[in-house]
Amino acid sequence: MKFRKNILCIGAGYVGGPTMAMIAYKCPQYRVTVVDINPIRIAEWNSDDLPIYEPGLGEIVKATRGKNLFFSTDIEGGIRDNDIIFVSVNTPTKTFGAGAGMAADLQYWEKTARQILQYSESTKIVIEKSTLPVKTALAMEKILNYTKNSISFDVLSNPEFLAEGSAIKDLENPDRILIGCQDTKSGLAARETLVEIYANWVPREKIITSNIWSSELSKIVSNAFLAQRISSINAISALCEKTDADIAEVSKAVGMDSRIGSKFLSASVGFGGSCFKKDILNLVYLCQHYSLHEVADYWESVVRINQYQQERFILNMLTTMFNTLAGKRICLFGFAFKANTGDTRESPAIYITKRLLEEKAEIVITDPKALKNAKADLTGMEGQVSFVEDPYKAAEGCHAIAILTEWDVYRNLDFQKIFNTMTKPASIFDGRNIIDHKRCFDIGFNVYPTGKPALTHS
Ligand code: UDX
Ligand code: UDX
Repeated sequence: MKFRKNILCIGAGYVGGPTMAMIAYKCPQYRVTVVDINPIRIAEWNSDDLPIYEPGLGEIVKATRGKNLFFSTDIEGGIRDNDIIFVSVNTPTKTFGAGAGMAADLQYWEKTARQILQYSESTKIVIEKSTLPVKTALAMEKILNYTKNSISFDVLSNPEFLAEGSAIKDLENPDRILIGCQDTKSGLAARETLVEIYANWVPREKIITSNIWSSELSKIVSNAFLAQRISSINAISALCEKTDADIAEVSKAVGMDSRIGSKFLSASVGFGGSCFKKDILNLVYLCQHYSLHEVADYWESVVRINQYQQERFILNMLTTMFNTLAGKRICLFGFAFKANTGDTRESPAIYITKRLLEEKAEIVITDPKALKNAKADLTGMEGQVSFVEDPYKAAEGCHAIAILTEWDVYRNLDFQKIFNTMTKPASIFDGRNIIDHKRCFDIGFNVYPTGKPALTHS
């Protein structure tokens, strides 16, 4: 069968995999290939056991794989045979040299640009899907158009706004699709090609365009704003705990102002995920680079409050459990950075485990999807940690439960049954405010919600 367009994506991760699966699903007339340097990841994408857990993903991969969606390690052939190339390789925070701990590490990105240049035999549209510092497209264009031959490259910025756990829903019905391009004849034509792809299922009015730098910056700023809301509500949760106000009530009252809105105002143990911290630090670095130190400080405080919220959680456990956690068994309900994903990148659970182990507590971890990643994250960490799939078994003999992920399954557990098997006094620290606190208190637990008065028996 002859396909109308041949699309490639380099990087088969949380962003590249689901995004390309959705394009293939919505556009049977296009052939979509996803390549990656990691052969294990590609083998998993080609198996029944996909490398990432995402509700609805399995179904759309099943419907398209082998028909118009292909996963391969042949990066060279992929570049040669496709005219539209999405780049979705990772851009982690730099761990070395100038900007270490803040700036984005662009080595994979640049390597990919050079591969595209090396293997291209015809004109290409190259699309930045990865989140990148402003002006990266310019660097990419310089690399790609360095040798003056007949092949030309147009670079577009098309950031991805999907959230994990709801990726398929977000991809199917996005709030907006943003496409940034250079204001040149070929840049505008390339943009139109990309608009055409999305227009297969996204209403035209939701496909917005901008200059390329605005597009790059909008992605980072969107994540910074979302994270800022969480740090704002978490900062107020600390005040609520001191004043007997209730963060859920405050958040409801504040969020009902239509100018503020109700979303992203749930107090928690802190935000995690691969993007928020990395992107804010990236923004901070950018501001420092331009000597905008006050602006840099302002955004950095969002990350500081997030760290403070996690440390506060630990100190609360320590002080309420008689100032010692040594030898106490503590069960973590949830290790993923949010519900409906197995992803644990930057999950508050990692820091909390580390701190509890420093206090010499024994840790039992349960999570419906993230135990494999949790084990990998904690490899080499000293102390007693065990992994138990069943939350009832996990809590047996424990002194406390810390709820770290808002999995639905934890809302409806039989807490009486759990209480009966725990060491007394038994405590619950609800880092997500998802359980019925009053009921758990009535059962006999000491209950410590986030941003609400504690319910204790003594
Ligand atoms: C990541 C970042 O988190 C996000 O901010 C950015 O927008 C896109 O990259 P994600 O898909 O979640 O998003 O990353 P990850 O799951 O690590 O996937 C990246 C993939 O790129 C990996 O499978 C990796 O093997 C692959 N890769 C990396 C290449 O194929 N080539 C490289 O040179 C480097
Ligand atoms: C985020 C952005 O939402 C998405 O647009 C972007 O493309 C990638 O980064 P993601 O990290 O997958 O997506 O998840 P998100 O739903 O934003 O949650 C991030 C963290 O904030 C999670 O740890 C979550 O539990 C936490 N959170 C979210 C809160 O603590 N309170 C809230 O009210 C909302």
